[in-house]
Amino acid sequence: MTTLFDPLKLGDIAIANRLVMAPLTRDRAGPGRVPHALNATYYEQRADPATGAGLIISEGTQVSALGQGYLDTPGIYSPEQLAGWKLVTDAVHRRGGRIVAQIWHVGRISHASLLPAGEQPVSSTAKPANSKTFTPAGFEQVSAPRALTTAEVGQVVGQFRQAARNAIDAGFDGVEVHGANGYLVEQFLRDSCNDRSDRYGGSIENRARFLVEVMTAVCEEIGPGRVGLRLSPVTPANDIGQDSNPFALFGHVVRELDKLGFAFIEMVEGATGGARDFAPFDFDALRKLWRGAWIVNNGYTHEMALQAVASGKADAVSFGKPFISNPDLARRLREDKPLAEWNQATFYGGGAEGYTDYPALAG
Ligand SMILES: Cc1cc2nc3c(=O)[nH]c(=O)nc-3n(C[C@H](O)[C@H](O)[C@H](O)COP(=O)(O)O)c2cc1C
Repeated sequence: MTTLFDPLKLGDIAIANRLVMAPLTRDRAGPGRVPHALNATYYEQRADPATGAGLIISEGTQVSALGQGYLDTPGIYSPEQLAGWKLVTDAVHRRGGRIVAQIWHVGRISHASLLPAGEQPVSSTAKPANSKTFTPAGFEQVSAPRALTTAEVGQVVGQFRQAARNAIDAGFDGVEVHGANGYLVEQFLRDSCNDRSDRYGGSIENRARFLVEVMTAVCEEIGPGRVGLRLSPVTPANDIGQDSNPFALFGHVVRELDKLGFAFIEMVEGATGGARDFAPFDFDALRKLWRGAWIVNNGYTHEMALQAVASGKADAVSFGKPFISNPDLARRLREDKPLAEWNQATFYGGGAEGYTDYPALAG
């Protein structure tokens, strides 16, 4: 019987256990949106697969200055950012760990104060979201976006391609494209948001085109064996709204992407960080359309994770909040030790407190 602690191959990426650290924004990059030594320490603490994650998925990392939506999130588009990420990837590899970069464009979930002077957020649409973001002034309502022109959509595809190249240059083992949680990819996918009349709007095929182009470009650039994708077919996150036919949409997406043969899909089941049964959706049927590895996420407990892997429902399980407060989560699960509670007040922003000061078990 397969257990959580058995090795796995995700395309070309060999991982030593099936506990994945989910992408977690922590808003602690330095000036210039550059990762630094404290960030490297945080990831290194969770990287040894004997005690921690078999694979770390980095926090969301913007592909361009316009892709940023929260204060002090790191980028992967400047030489300084790449040098900062090299500190992180070297530290993870020193511990025998594996790490992929979650490459991200927030689209309309941003605020003008976070963007280059005079810019406003961009999206598939000019309709604003009713959502808040974390800015220098605290939690603020997001700014109204403008709709990308058809030509600009191609430029954003190019930014994802370049970000994937940059990730490999910075020492990452691969990338995960952020296709979840109401950000730019979902702003194209769902008919609750996308109101375009060009080839990126209207039919399911058209709404999926942006994502298919991004995944094709990223696979061409770094090879499909190093590429993953996060999806969240029914999450309400960031005011994205429900698609009128989620299974038809995501069935088409997964069928099309299966042709690219990339390494893995990470599936957020239900409302991200909320109810797993938020809206009806047959995730097992979706998985049948996909040949690659299947990682599940959202509210998994030890029991649920063991069961998911043992039953073959998933190849691996990603944990978010439990990895914030348990750098040695794999050891604690394997030895059936109690888990430390996380402190929500220190999730976003700040320094070492609530970041690198959660201890591992002694001994
Ligand atoms: C502090 C925090 C930051 C997060 N940042 C990201 C992110 O950058 N990218 C992403 O895809 N999901 C992000 N998420 C969602 C988590 O990856 C995960 O889907 C969610 O926490 C549910 O998993 P869990 O129950 O194991 O925590 C974040 C969640 C939290 C709590």
